Amino acid sequence: MTAIAETTVLSGIRATGRLHFGNFMGAVRHFVTHQQHGNRCMYFIADLHTLTTLRDPEELRGNVIEIVKDYLAAGLNPNDSIIYAQSSIPEISELSLLLSMIQPLGELERIPTFKDLVRKNSDNVTLGLVSYPVLMAADILGPQATLVPVGEDQIPNVELARNMARRFNDRFGTTFAMPETLKEMIKVPGLDGEKMGKSEADNAIDINAPIDVIRKRYLARGITDPQRMRTSDPGDPYNRCRSVYPLHELITPGEADSRTIAKECLAASIGCVECKKRLVDSIAAILEPFQERRAALTKKDDYAREVLHEGGKRARRIIAETVEKVREKMGIIVY
Ligand code: ADP
Ligand code: TRP
Repeated sequence: MTAIAETTVLSGIRATGRLHFGNFMGAVRHFVTHQQHGNRCMYFIADLHTLTTLRDPEELRGNVIEIVKDYLAAGLNPNDSIIYAQSSIPEISELSLLLSMIQPLGELERIPTFKDLVRKNSDNVTLGLVSYPVLMAADILGPQATLVPVGEDQIPNVELARNMARRFNDRFGTTFAMPETLKEMIKVPGLDGEKMGKSEADNAIDINAPIDVIRKRYLARGITDPQRMRTSDPGDPYNRCRSVYPLHELITPGEADSRTIAKECLAASIGCVECKKRLVDSIAAILEPFQERRAALTKKDDYAREVLHEGGKRARRIIAETVEKVREKMGIIVY
């Protein structure tokens, strides 16, 4: 028997490309804050999920290693957190198949993330895309996760995992822990004011981009109040500023309480350029220490592979234990 930690924190990120500031603030930052005594932390790279949209094997292999380095530079410590690749644990795929046997198709078709994915991949709706949330439920339930730190957009997928846990426990007796999300989840706006994401909109800030490049991108493309023509016009940070002020509220120290910058914008005592510069200062304060540690890992691909190898072994022991119970409860015997 593996010792049961009070809280099992689990999350994953797809290896679709380089991480952006939305991934960092919405997910990775929480991975690090939960890495503390008493928590069992399991953080993985969802390489199988990546196959739903990425079709270049070389790119996939490269992205996995780079994301491990991002995890490490962000502050994950392989002694305190189990860091692994989803595909290294074949029991996750097995669990996904077993769970798919009790997952109504209609429920999958109704979840908003599914509709989104179908819209974005309308030319290629594969079975893997449809069953994406079932694999995600296996990721979560296999390690008996109790807390799943993710950004706001992932709520429906975690909800599906909860439904699945409930359904399985009701039918076969208590087997799975009930996973929760964070109390407060955020949606980081991209340069265009839509959700920051790795999409064609090119609205994301790469966490490894030099601060100068980030500054130029905000000055050139960060959308503020479109109705504010001159600096002497008062702006409306709350209702009309799409990307810059909403991000200040999320990351600029004190801003959520004092709303100093918002007041200055309303009083026309600060212009959009100054507001953007202050925003990039806030971003820099968060990313500079990360980028410094990240630079030291540039040539450490072998180390990243070793972290995945060791983490894979640890994760497999934990997940295999659950899957054995599931198999047994469902009537499957390995002869
Ligand atoms: P993307 O949406 O860019 O493809 P992923 O789907 O791989 O990114 O997301 C990985 C993690 O980052 C998830 O927990 C997701 O909720 C979080 N995340 C992604 N974009 C944002 C955002 N703009 N704001 C907050 N969290 C985000
Ligand atoms: N679907 C998540 C995303 O796009 C990635 C993911 C896969 C995940 N499996 C997970 C997140 C399990 C949390 C827990 O961001």
